Amino acid sequence: MGYLGKLRLDGRRAAVTGGAGGIGAACVDALLEAGAHVVVLDHSLAAIEKAKERLLGQDVSFEQLDVTDTVAVKAMAGRLRPIDVLVNNAGIGRQTPGEDISETEWHEVMDVNLNAVFWCSQAFGRGMIERRRGSIVNIGSMSGEIVTRPQKNVHYNASKAAVHHITRSLAAEWAGRGVRVNAVAPGFIETPMNSFALRSDIETTNIWLSNTPMGRVGQTDEIASIVLFLASDAASLMTGSIVLADGGYTVW
Ligand code: NAI
Repeated sequence: MGYLGKLRLDGRRAAVTGGAGGIGAACVDALLEAGAHVVVLDHSLAAIEKAKERLLGQDVSFEQLDVTDTVAVKAMAGRLRPIDVLVNNAGIGRQTPGEDISETEWHEVMDVNLNAVFWCSQAFGRGMIERRRGSIVNIGSMSGEIVTRPQKNVHYNASKAAVHHITRSLAAEWAGRGVRVNAVAPGFIETPMNSFALRSDIETTNIWLSNTPMGRVGQTDEIASIVLFLASDAASLMTGSIVLADGGYTVW
């Protein structure tokens, strides 16, 4: 197989959590272009309806799933078998100073960003282990490596640091059983999650841009292309890697 051929996913089945919008939607596009059948998993029916229109006629299916519902996650993993590629992308951001975060908000962020990554990995990973074939790609964040500024979000940062270590830990456990586990750690990407700053808060946006060597935010396709690479056989020697794609933010 040639180098470009290794990026192909013909005959494989992929699932993308939070796949109806933002970075997840771009991941769906990339996996489809590589020839996979893709299942979009999202909790938002409105977002699923939009995605259905956008992806009309493509080899894609849609399921409503709240990744924090562990019973539903287990049932979904059973129903969708076999899945060869899982992209744990669903995530939420909250900006609250540490001294003001409520227990409810803390658990909300941890349930989506951290706990769901583990329970989805376990539910879908079991099938991969049985078939000795699979690739899991987690969407972490540069905020899992460093503390971004000026926004205050200790829960978000901590959840992403833990995602990176779940990635390494499961990679170590499953490396000998045919399952690779990697993560992409994006910098600031132009998605609805960042609209709080990019649309309305020029001061925050300027701080982000002046702290980024490339001087710009990223686009969703710039993350999706890395997800495709990690999902595919082109990354066959990679497991436990956290791939930063941040316009250089963490260099400074
Ligand atoms: P987004 O808010 O644009 O899209 C998130 C998608 O996930 C939406 O379709 C939403 O309906 C879905 N979702 C949210 N909660 C869910 C749940 N409980 N169950 C199922 N689906 C759910 O967010 P964005 O920016 O595309 O983020 C995607 C991932 O990338 C997240 O994990 C985020 O933390 C991470 N990330 C984003 C960065 C950015 O600058 N946008 C930077 C670094 C990481």
